[in-house]
Amino acid sequence: MYLSISSRLMYALCTVTLLAGTVSAVHAADATPSAHVTILATGGTIAGSGATSTTTVGYTAATVGVDRLIAAVPELAKVAQVKGEQVFQIASENMTNEHWLKLAKRVNALLAQPDVDGIVITHGTDTLEETAYFLDLTVKSKKPVVLVGAMRPGTALSADGPINLYNAVLLAASQEAVGKGVLVAMNDQIHAARDVTKTNTSTPDSFKTPELGMLGYIQGNKPYFYHVSNRKHTADTEFDISKLDALPQVDIVYGYANVGPVALNALVGAGAKGIIHAGVGDGSLASKVAPALTAARKQGVLIVRSARVGQGIVARNGEANDDALDFVVSDTLNPQKARILLMLALTKTSDSKEIQRMFYTY
Ligand code: DGL
Repeated sequence: MYLSISSRLMYALCTVTLLAGTVSAVHAADATPSAHVTILATGGTIAGSGATSTTTVGYTAATVGVDRLIAAVPELAKVAQVKGEQVFQIASENMTNEHWLKLAKRVNALLAQPDVDGIVITHGTDTLEETAYFLDLTVKSKKPVVLVGAMRPGTALSADGPINLYNAVLLAASQEAVGKGVLVAMNDQIHAARDVTKTNTSTPDSFKTPELGMLGYIQGNKPYFYHVSNRKHTADTEFDISKLDALPQVDIVYGYANVGPVALNALVGAGAKGIIHAGVGDGSLASKVAPALTAARKQGVLIVRSARVGQGIVARNGEANDDALDFVVSDTLNPQKARILLMLALTKTSDSKEIQRMFYTY
């Protein structure tokens, strides 16, 4: 087939364009990603190891260092320029206020650096939701902060840690995650720190936001957001921990049939500045406990009525006359998260009306 000169030129131009496109695509696939993400490792099952590949309970948490976690997922290099820091190496049931203050200060220092675009925190799942909420209230930046863990150790068949870590770094490197508050990336899902909770002792789908709903998914190397949290967080927080070395002692008492005031009185006697009452139902107070709570309030201990139920609003003046008793209600925060907000609130004020405002703000 004979082509005119102009057709030959057009054919050649198309061929060159196609080749250029292919070359650039190859280069694009190998291009160094622009986002800089720092991974702060704290321990947990994601850094755990078991005796056999089928050991999914009874393994040892917090045995693998951050460099090995990163090396185990070479795909991270496709989504971000990653650096690792080993902040702690603990099972997260041992997390303390002091750990939280150190971690939050390190996060704020890193995010203030122009060469850090996002942070991933690898963490044990037992208290992951608490650390996430503490950071949601204390991180002073809109840059992404993503917490991630694993329900199975890296030595187990179908370990979930590597893919969870990959998704977390991808999310922390994304523009979509900017300004969304502290996020939890588990099981291909994106959750808000305020409302996510661990719902199962051992299954990979343990992290859920039962009624208020998760924010989105990570699928096919991309985050998809369908909701945003409309409570204040991160850059909009009024709490500043930069000069704090300790947090006020706040404890939780659990409600149940036949409960008495012994535990409550012991905690108040030990110097608790605040008590979270994890009541049955809508935060109900047993008649054997109510007088001890009232007495504690009169001593200046701040009382928050929360609920062991886990979902729903604890109604102010519902199961107790909060106005008359000068109690605060936790809104929808579960007891462990209500404790975190009350601790931070007490660093600013002991005024119960101001603290109630904070529970309706964050
Ligand atoms: N010891 C628990 C913790 O570090 C293990 C659970 C986990 O990390 O998944 O939270």
